[in-house]
Amino acid sequence: MSSNNGPKRDFIDPHDLAEPFESNNGIVNWMESRLPIISLVYNAGFSFPSPRNLNYFWTFGMILSFMLVFQLATGIVLVMHYTPHVDMAFASVEHIMRDVNYGWLLRYAHANGASFFFIAVYIHMIRGLYYGSYKAPREVLWIIGVAIYLAMMATGFMGYVLPWGQMSLWGVTVITNLFSALPLIGEPLVTLLWGGFSVDNPTLNRFFSLHYLLPFVIAGLVALHIWALHVPGNNNPLGIDVKGKQDTLSFWPYYQIKDMFALVLFLIVFMGFVFYAPNMLGHPDNYIEANPMQTPPHIVPEWYYLPFYAILRSVPDILFIPAKLGGVIAMFGAIAIWALMPWLDTSRVRSSRFRPVWRWFVFIFLADMLVLGWLGAQVPNDVLVLIGQLCTIYYFAFFLIIMPVMGLIEKPKPLPTSIADEVLGGAAAPDGAAAAQEKRG
Ligand code: HEM
Repeated sequence: MSSNNGPKRDFIDPHDLAEPFESNNGIVNWMESRLPIISLVYNAGFSFPSPRNLNYFWTFGMILSFMLVFQLATGIVLVMHYTPHVDMAFASVEHIMRDVNYGWLLRYAHANGASFFFIAVYIHMIRGLYYGSYKAPREVLWIIGVAIYLAMMATGFMGYVLPWGQMSLWGVTVITNLFSALPLIGEPLVTLLWGGFSVDNPTLNRFFSLHYLLPFVIAGLVALHIWALHVPGNNNPLGIDVKGKQDTLSFWPYYQIKDMFALVLFLIVFMGFVFYAPNMLGHPDNYIEANPMQTPPHIVPEWYYLPFYAILRSVPDILFIPAKLGGVIAMFGAIAIWALMPWLDTSRVRSSRFRPVWRWFVFIFLADMLVLGWLGAQVPNDVLVLIGQLCTIYYFAFFLIIMPVMGLIEKPKPLPTSIADEVLGGAAAPDGAAAAQEKRG
């Protein structure tokens, strides 16, 4: 794991700062000489040196890992009682709610779990944006994150179809229809997605199959994500590099305990929704069985897609590009552009704390996302369409103009010399934990 064996790096290999794994136990050593899995777990999950100044925003990676396992576990049990057929899907969900022991809890936990998974991922991404975690040397880590996010969007979308309510049917009809705007491949692609000439049983079947498969793909991507994280180690709120052992704390007990505490708080809010407001984040129309003969007056996607839905609806006909095609390009472009951030941002300073002007653009961007989210749920009229267009322009200008230009013209505040200096006010000793202990007295 040491940097001596690998390619040349311009950052410290965190493993070089950790205590090496050693054991006197014969069984452990026997295993280690055959499959060094115990040292792997120890190095990655216990001794791993993390910057000593990580705040609570850094707990969301672990919360996300927990939510992924939680969704897999509840999903696998739900499938034992669910029937993926248009004639029975809706009734089988009602059967889960009424007849299966604790079926209501399973279903509400899984449905709200999806929402809370997205709440956590949005906080996780905004943290990355604010503290510049996407910048070198964490570009690959970031891009894998964007791939995970895309896979999450697809999984959530396909999952929403399974209860076969009115919003399931009409939501999937609207969104899959969009692909028909693509030149040449559009129509055949939609037929392929549907498995026929309308949204019907084959559509439900393939979405069910993919909804089951994708979370395992996400799990694989998460393994790569964490691997890519463990090469340079964590970024931190100051955005400066770790310079030595004094800047770090070992993952156990410091960050494991902090992560557990944050997880408990997160679960309290999550369970609050599951037990007291289980349908608040859903749409009441999904309690009406899907009816291809009756279009609901107002079709809205789940809340976590709303900003992108608003972008989709904001694009007018532009020259020879029809609004529908332009909307699809803008909607997917709005997500894909996140993957280019490491190169769009030209600033050499990572953390927005030291970028006095840029950080205001970040705050405006977050407000812009909220407004877009609100717009996505409204019935469009002339004024709302105009607001949507202005917000869409800001969205893209943020990435394509503000991000590169601010990096070149902004004068950042002076950076601290080291994490330890900033956190301990010069009281750092060679051993980080000992220094903290000393400071507490
Ligand atoms: C299933 C979804 C995800 C899981 C389980 C996950 C897991 C993790 C974990 C455990 C960490 C280390 C702890 C932390 O920094 O919070 C981490 C860090 C990170 N993640 Fe994710 N992640 C997910 C999605 C994403 C997405 C969608 C993005 C961005 C588009 C992203 C970008 C990052 C970055 C940049 C870091 C390094 C942060 C830093 O050190 O400052 N992750 N992730």
